[in-house]
Amino acid sequence: MDITGGLGELTAQVIPPSRPIPTLADDVRELLLDSPRSLPPKYLYDEAGSDLFDQICRTKEYYVTRTEDALLTEVVGNVAATVRPATVFEFGSGMSRKTPQIIDACCQVGPLATYAAFDISPDALRAGGEGLRQSHPEMSVQLFVGDYTAGLDALPVPEGPRLFLFLGGTIGNFTEPEGIRFLRDLAAKMEPGDFLLMGADRIKDRQVLHDAYNDSEGLTAAFNQNVLRVLNARLGADFEPEAFRHDAVYSEQNAQIEMRLVAMQPQTVTFGILDEQIRFARGESILTEVSRKFSRDSLERLVRSAGFKLRRHYTTDDEYFSLVLAEIGNFDERL
Ligand code: AVJ
Repeated sequence: MDITGGLGELTAQVIPPSRPIPTLADDVRELLLDSPRSLPPKYLYDEAGSDLFDQICRTKEYYVTRTEDALLTEVVGNVAATVRPATVFEFGSGMSRKTPQIIDACCQVGPLATYAAFDISPDALRAGGEGLRQSHPEMSVQLFVGDYTAGLDALPVPEGPRLFLFLGGTIGNFTEPEGIRFLRDLAAKMEPGDFLLMGADRIKDRQVLHDAYNDSEGLTAAFNQNVLRVLNARLGADFEPEAFRHDAVYSEQNAQIEMRLVAMQPQTVTFGILDEQIRFARGESILTEVSRKFSRDSLERLVRSAGFKLRRHYTTDDEYFSLVLAEIGNFDERL
């Protein structure tokens, strides 16, 4: 029963994983104690890390955010007219900064009943959700907190047609099999008439790529080192973040930025909670994030191999960034 007099509701819910997911301690034992050492990138995004990432997005070197924003502005009317969604459902929405223009474009072509968002950060979700409640009081806002890479079985989806959003180029943080698995999980939630709009960063001049991950203010370096503070706080470790140097290089061969922390001198780190120690040799490194870059073809191949049919491929004149609009294929094509 609607007791709000035409007002949409704001709801929030925790989504449990449908597949078992490793804890931070599991990841440390499995990936950090092993060689070559690595960590999953999601631990970069605690509150301080999310804040630093936000600042990275405003640096002159990090073209990704402003390129995607400009492209979105250009194509959002076309997307809205194609999908005419009753629900906009955003994954990895963060603070939902790009969301208002998409919502507005959808409202211009028809009634938008629901905005839903799924993110790992409850604070970012709440901030974004409350802003949208103010500007669109008639729209329902449904917030879901959880790890969307752990399966979507427990995720309710509001009425269709739906426009799913996966923006920011976050797909680049996944390995090929991880990306396909996430997109397949998403495809399984979709029905004919639903669409996915996904952003992806493109292969380009290597100096431009290099500079984007080595900004002159040192924000990316601080963002990278912050993951060691996360380990200190959550596992009682005694990393000295300043004893590790930020390193981000573009591997042409793998078409990806590889971000590492490099030990500047030999050092031993103790984990209070784990009863483990790591001895770092000078120059030894931890792989903290991979950011894949796509060609037009490799991006379209990824989307297709997850069971999608491509409707539109939007890109900028310089082809720095792409937005793909995809729908689910028919059942036979998805087998
Ligand atoms: C949020 C994954 C899109 O890979 O460009 C930015 C993260 N890392 N600078 C990216 C990031 C360092 C970003 N994504």
